[in-house]
Amino acid sequence: MGGRMETVELKKGVYWVGAIDWNVRDFHGYSTPTGTTYNAYLILDEKNVLVDTVKSSFYLEMLGRISEIIDPSKIDIIISNHVEMDHSSSLPQLVERIGNPVVITSERGKKGLEKHYKRPMNFKVVKSGETFPIGRRTLSFIEAPMLHWPDNMFTYIPEDRVLLPNDAFGQHFASSYRFEDEADEEVMRHAAKYFANILWHLAPLIVKKIDEVVKMGIPIDMIGPSHGLIWRKDPGKIIQAYVDWSQGKTANKILVVYDTMWGSTEALARAILKGLIEEGVEAKLLHLRSNHRSDIIEEMLEAKGVLLGSPTLNNGMFPTMGDFLTYMKGLRPKGKCFGLFGSYGWGGGAVKEMRKILEQEKFEVWEKELSAQFIPDPEEIKNAIQFGKEFVKKTNGTNNSE
Ligand code: FEO
Repeated sequence: MGGRMETVELKKGVYWVGAIDWNVRDFHGYSTPTGTTYNAYLILDEKNVLVDTVKSSFYLEMLGRISEIIDPSKIDIIISNHVEMDHSSSLPQLVERIGNPVVITSERGKKGLEKHYKRPMNFKVVKSGETFPIGRRTLSFIEAPMLHWPDNMFTYIPEDRVLLPNDAFGQHFASSYRFEDEADEEVMRHAAKYFANILWHLAPLIVKKIDEVVKMGIPIDMIGPSHGLIWRKDPGKIIQAYVDWSQGKTANKILVVYDTMWGSTEALARAILKGLIEEGVEAKLLHLRSNHRSDIIEEMLEAKGVLLGSPTLNNGMFPTMGDFLTYMKGLRPKGKCFGLFGSYGWGGGAVKEMRKILEQEKFEVWEKELSAQFIPDPEEIKNAIQFGKEFVKKTNGTNNSE
């Protein structure tokens, strides 16, 4: 590392001092084709405050950015909004470097940091609504348990109208830009993928928390999440998107997600797709070994229906479908209708196994299903086209599409 690093000022005396992880491509099972960022924020006041840190392998990058602005040993307070190691694993080194700064965190944040780093720190535990004066500014804190860990909290700077909510409103998006208005619409796609893969199962809590923050009536000029770009031009846009996604707003879109062994399930998938297209919906064909699970989940966010297809292997579904359903069921995609199809050689079993999993998890599964033995014949292909058309009618009748 060397050379001068750029500094990024959000408001007078409030800086982004994070790190850009250009090369990470897998973030615990989530594909990150551009990489990601770990955002830390420095507030200069009578007491200098650092809000969150970065993944430990980027400690020096963060330290370099801080050093462009102040001597890091002049940091008086570090706020830890979230224990997860992408934001806290530089904390032990930084605490060592500074001396003994105050570490402000939630009660569960303190417990989590103690268990992670097993070293004493000068903790100051705060609760929702508590404030902490640092000079010209008085910071305030909003606990956000289970968004997405029990320890999560937001830090708010009233004098600058800046909300620092850690993971909420983030994107796994590495870019030379720091603000959303500098990038194009790509940022919303990354935000949607992030929501779908990290926060979707917490939708009811998100709606409540946003409602709580709105009722507090705090003005917000900027939202500085812990990943990706800072929402500066229109923070209301991402807040509204979170409300829409949490409430399960859908578009007129249906996905066909499948794998295939010898092409039979794929032939059915393509015929079903033809039926969907003929009915005028936006339809997508997604092969499980050509599309990362986290990209399929992103596609699902605004889809009103999903057709899942699998060949039978050893009396059950194909392993890639098992991987996908395991991942998907934890994310609790809301308001989707599922349809099932597949092919088999003799006993069958894939469709039955998929149905069992989905019904156990209380997803809405269309009672009609489609199976073909060995290679589908022209009549079965015709039936598959019809199956797609009927699924459109089924989803039109049951979903809350726009
Ligand atoms: Fe970005 Fe939950 O850590």
